Amino acid sequence: MRRALVTGASSGIGEATARLLASHGYAVALLARRLEPLEAVAAELAAEGGVASSGGRHHVVTCDMTSSASIAQAAKDLAENFGTIDLVVCNAGVGYRAKIEELDDDLLDAVFATNVLGPMRLARELLPILRLSERAVWVNVSSVVGRRGIPGQAAYSATKAALGSFAEALRLEWATEGKGGIAVCTLNPALTATGFFEAQPNPGSLPNPDLAGAAGPMDVAREILKLDKNPEPERSLRWKWWLLGALTPIFPRLSDRMLAKKLGGGWQAPSR
Ligand SMILES: NC(=O)c1ccc[n+]([C@@H]2O[C@H](COP(=O)([O-])OP(=O)(O)OC[C@H]3O[C@@H](n4cnc5c(N)ncnc54)[C@H](OP(=O)(O)O)[C@@H]3O)[C@@H](O)[C@H]2O)c1
Repeated sequence: MRRALVTGASSGIGEATARLLASHGYAVALLARRLEPLEAVAAELAAEGGVASSGGRHHVVTCDMTSSASIAQAAKDLAENFGTIDLVVCNAGVGYRAKIEELDDDLLDAVFATNVLGPMRLARELLPILRLSERAVWVNVSSVVGRRGIPGQAAYSATKAALGSFAEALRLEWATEGKGGIAVCTLNPALTATGFFEAQPNPGSLPNPDLAGAAGPMDVAREILKLDKNPEPERSLRWKWWLLGALTPIFPRLSDRMLAKKLGGGWQAPSR
């Protein structure tokens, strides 16, 4: 039986991942700030028999990923009350839709703390527990915009680019950690229909994307499960976004033109 920690398990992709993993017999620790939705999901997982069939138990831990102290406390709670962790799905994250001139300092700090510093601090705190696993896997839920920054989301894009870079470094640091290495994966979802867009600050009311045709959170959860079974360094979920990310460092002007065309909405590629 594998044991997983899912951050951001109170909604969206994290909730779907917790449900999918539990249905595949994993014992799941669910982490987020809001206790009530976490407990509601955990209760449903227990009622569905995931606990009994896995012979383990699910666990709820509240944690604010912007706080180093809260992360340290969560790691302590997990060590004492959940035990070994084989899979970490580092998924908790927030968006920030704003042009540069609209950025607020506190919100800017919070998006970097949640999306970048939090995962780094969590990795530091959980390493002793991960070393105990027979086959540990760490999955960062990043974004396709981490490989190609997009206008109106410069801060959010930059956090996801940082997360990708962090994972690249960690892959080699952890290659010899634990029992046979800890695999580190970056998953880059594209547009996914969750409450993410309502939750994100958007001071200038920039238009949110049309979610018709977006992936569902369970589509992303299935990719996470695949990565646990067969870890890959990085996977982007829409090939056009993968192509854009791959083209950007080699042909940045072409990438700018392709992105401006794709986004529409008045965004333009630079003329010089
Ligand atoms: N939706 C998309 O189109 C999309 C595309 C690419 C990547 N992603 C990434 O996918 C991940 C999940 O997003 P989602 O779409 O599922 O959005 P969501 O439904 O808004 O879920 C975000 C989760 O993160 C948790 N969270 C936020 N701030 C936190 C904090 N400070 N401490 C602890 N937990 C925190 C939230 O729980 P609490 O509020 O209870 O703390 C919630 O469970 C994010 O990293 C996001 O960047 C999303």
